[in-house]
Amino acid sequence: MRLEEIINFRRSVRLYKDLPIDSEKVKHCIELATLAPNSSNMQLWEFYHITNPEILKELSAACFNQEAATTAQQMVVFVTRQDLYRKRAKKVLELETQNVLKNSPIEKHDGRIKKWKMYYGKVMPFLYVNFLGLLGIVRKVIVSIVGLFIATPYQVSESDMRVVAHKTCALAAQTFMLAMANESYDTCPMEGFDSRRVKSILKLPFGAEINMIVSCGIRDERGVWGDRMRIPFDEVYRKI
Ligand SMILES: Cc1cc2nc3c(=O)[nH]c(=O)nc-3n(C[C@H](O)[C@H](O)[C@H](O)COP(=O)(O)O)c2cc1C
Repeated sequence: MRLEEIINFRRSVRLYKDLPIDSEKVKHCIELATLAPNSSNMQLWEFYHITNPEILKELSAACFNQEAATTAQQMVVFVTRQDLYRKRAKKVLELETQNVLKNSPIEKHDGRIKKWKMYYGKVMPFLYVNFLGLLGIVRKVIVSIVGLFIATPYQVSESDMRVVAHKTCALAAQTFMLAMANESYDTCPMEGFDSRRVKSILKLPFGAEINMIVSCGIRDERGVWGDRMRIPFDEVYRKI
C-alpha cells in the first residue's frame, strides 16, 4: 500500500475476527513506532506488548469490556515515563557525543559536545524535575522574567511537561497504527480505561502514566462503524 492508502485503510476497529495475528510483526511495528519524532529525543516512553490471554482479559475488564478490547488478539499499552528523565538524558548525551565525533568536523567537536552537555546535563533535568507541582511554578517564574527580554518557551510547568511526554507518546502510537495498517492489521486507540487498574496489572511504577491502549487484530467488517466522518475541511483549514 502507498502511504495514502495506508492512512485510508486505518480505521478504529471495534470488533475483531477470531483470527490470530503474528506477534513478531506486531513487535516490528512497535520498533517502527520508536522512530516517531519525540521531544528533545528524550524518548520518555515504554511499550507493553500484551499477548498473554490472561493479561488480555484483565486489561479488557480495565477497558470497561469494550468490544474493541474483548475481541482483540493482542494489545499495546503506550506508557509515558517522565520519571526516567535522568537516565534517558544521560543516554541521549552519550549518543549525541558519538554522533558529533563521527559526523562533525574535528574543529567543531568541543563546541558541539559542550552544547549537548549543557542541554542534556542541565536544561533537560531542569525542565523535567518534579516536586508536588512547586518546581513547575519556579520554572514559570524564571521563564516569565526571561521572556520579558527574549522569545522564551512558556510551557514549562509540571503539567506542561506531562503534555510534552503525552504528545510524544501519541506520535509513537499513531506511527504504530500506520505500521500495523501496512501489515493489513487493524487497531483501535483507546483512552476509555481505568488507568489505576491498568498500572496495577502491568506493575508500573508511580511515575509512569498510561497514554493510550491500542487493541490489535483483524477487522470484522461490523467493527468499522460506518463511513469516516470528519468536520468539513474548509472549517479546519486556514491558509495564512
Ligand atoms: C486518544 C484517543 C482515544 C480514543 N479512545 C477510544 C475508546 O476508548 N474507544 C473507542 O471505541 N474508540 C476510541 N478512539 C477512537 C476514535 O473514536 C476514532 O479515532 C474516531 O472516531 C475517528 O474514527 P477513525 O479512527 O476510524 O478515523 C480513540 C481515539 C483516540 C485518538
